[in-house]
Amino acid sequence: MTKKKVLVTGGAGFIGGNFVQYMVEKYPNYDIYNLDLLTYAGDLTKHGVIEEEENYYFIKADIGDRESMMELFQKENFDFVIHFAAESHVDRSITDPEIFVRTNVQGTQVLLDAAKEFGITKFVHVSTDEVYGELDFDPNTFFTEETPLQPNSPYSASKASSDFLVRAYHETYELPVNITRCSNNYGPYHFPEKLIPLTISRVLNDQTVPVYGDGKNIRDWLHVYDHCAAIDLVMHEGLSGEVYNVGGHNEKTNLEVVKTIIETLGKSEELIEFVTDRLGHDKRYAIDPTKLEKLGWEPTYTFETGIAQTIQWYLDNKEWWERIISGEYQNYFEVYYKEILN
Ligand code: NAD
Ligand code: TYD
Repeated sequence: MTKKKVLVTGGAGFIGGNFVQYMVEKYPNYDIYNLDLLTYAGDLTKHGVIEEEENYYFIKADIGDRESMMELFQKENFDFVIHFAAESHVDRSITDPEIFVRTNVQGTQVLLDAAKEFGITKFVHVSTDEVYGELDFDPNTFFTEETPLQPNSPYSASKASSDFLVRAYHETYELPVNITRCSNNYGPYHFPEKLIPLTISRVLNDQTVPVYGDGKNIRDWLHVYDHCAAIDLVMHEGLSGEVYNVGGHNEKTNLEVVKTIIETLGKSEELIEFVTDRLGHDKRYAIDPTKLEKLGWEPTYTFETGIAQTIQWYLDNKEWWERIISGEYQNYFEVYYKEILN
């Protein structure tokens, strides 16, 4: 296999972090560059195992910093750009949308310009099924790659805007690109502001779990390891210009998810606290992954096997998430949940 240079943006975050580890281990002959600004969501301690590897490099930088990105792309001549870096939390986008436009839209555009200027083999833009908006509760309806984009939150609107830019750079400048739109990920190193790690960490600390509204909203859960394998396939085999949906037919209501975690940890359902609903809360997401399956991907985790693995990981890695939920996170939690949680 020929040596390749792969730039992974957002490789100190949850999914990008898992992807960096997957790539460093799977492709010893590829050089993997992890570029990350280390915002509140970025954490390098997760890379303790790989940081000594010869094919791993870390660059602290802002994807929105045009001069630095141009210099970097000129110097390194990357073959692949796998773009994860983003502001990713819907609730934060509702209280502070501006940074979402700056990072997710403008940051993506800077990277596209750098890729266009200095040439690449493939730019993979990691997007989300949330750009399609919401589905109703009819279990026979799914998002396909043809579903029109109708984002409802500032987060999903910023991701949809970046998707359109990626598409436009392909159509206008023939930049080789793929867009992947995945469902809700879960697994090791998930930042505890999101439902699953929030629930696990709070239940383990005998704290109440805030469930928005009636808890009947549905998400389609994708284990992060299955997502990493999907991106690996798309970067190497995806047809340029195409969009691929990634999801595993693992639909659960939020209440089902929370109850499964509570039961697995042997705690009481009295920990569930129904709180004021999220503004504009999307009812249901569900992916039709047929196109990606035809390319050769299939998920290896069901929700049941994946959640068991994830809960065990949080039990085995308490020091990681305890450190994450100290400091800045405490402040966020207190401010954000102040009004809605007892
Ligand atoms: P995350 O919030 O855990 O990590 C984001 C990373 O990006 C962090 O390490 C952060 O430091 C970095 N970052 C933020 N701003 C930056 C900037 N200006 N320059 C460089 N780095 C910056 O996010 P995640 O959950 O790992 O999501 C990764 C990608 O996958 C995002 O693009 C997100 O939209 C998409 N996605 C996530 C999910 C999910 O369930 N988590 C689902 C669908 C799509
Ligand atoms: P989240 O993990 O924030 O992902 P997303 O909003 O991208 O789907 O939320 C998953 C679901 O869980 C979503 O329907 C909102 C709900 N939720 C709660 O009920 N309570 C919480 O404290 C959080 C963070 C989310």
